[in-house]
Amino acid sequence: MPTRRWIDEAKRDPYRRRAREEGYRSRAAYKLEEAQRRFGLLKRGDIVVELGAWPGGMAQAASRIVGPEGLVVAVDVREFKPFEEENIITLQLDILEDDVIGEVLRILDGRRADLLISDASPSFTGIREIDIARQYELALRSYEIARSLVRRDGSLMLKAFDSEEAIELAEKLRRDYAVVKRFVPRAKKKTSSEFYFIAMGKLR
Ligand SMILES: C[S@@+](CC[C@H](N)C(=O)[O-])C[C@H]1O[C@@H](n2cnc3c(N)ncnc32)[C@H](O)[C@@H]1O
Repeated sequence: MPTRRWIDEAKRDPYRRRAREEGYRSRAAYKLEEAQRRFGLLKRGDIVVELGAWPGGMAQAASRIVGPEGLVVAVDVREFKPFEEENIITLQLDILEDDVIGEVLRILDGRRADLLISDASPSFTGIREIDIARQYELALRSYEIARSLVRRDGSLMLKAFDSEEAIELAEKLRRDYAVVKRFVPRAKKKTSSEFYFIAMGKLR
């Protein structure tokens, strides 16, 4: 039975209710579905690496799009509940500390990803400067990991927040990818200033 609190929140947040009905672990699944409809980032058989993937809604959405011949490597510092989806592999790693590139390449047997998603975000303090700085650290590290893990001509979907730092990140991305766009998903929480860089056509 859903609790009173869950019912109140679900009324305010229809994406959350829909996620539960459709077997997704989080509403984030709809952000990837929308990005897929708009930019066609993935096809069946593709390899996806997601950083900051817990509890796993986006990884599940990716798993459905790439199908059984594809693979999703879901990375988070938190421990995942096991997935029923056979094409999702989980890694419990801190992207700021651990050798994510080495661990993922070992799992992929040296292959590279068609798409790297970073949805990593820190626990927020409510102090804007600290939150933006921590988010930027995660985004920058994700960008660096993508330089090694995304194949030539592959794509990156990278969470960022409106800030000076995001402008710097956009410049870096434009050096590495043929096309860089800004994407604000409809499933974004109204209070959040998050958006995603969608970078396509990795140059090398
Ligand atoms: C918004 S949630 C991700 C939601 C997820 N994409 C989904 O589809 O359900 C952000 C995640 O970033 C993770 N995270 C934050 N810092 C991290 C780090 N240093 N290394 C790995 N994961 C991190 C958090 O543990 C959290 O699970």
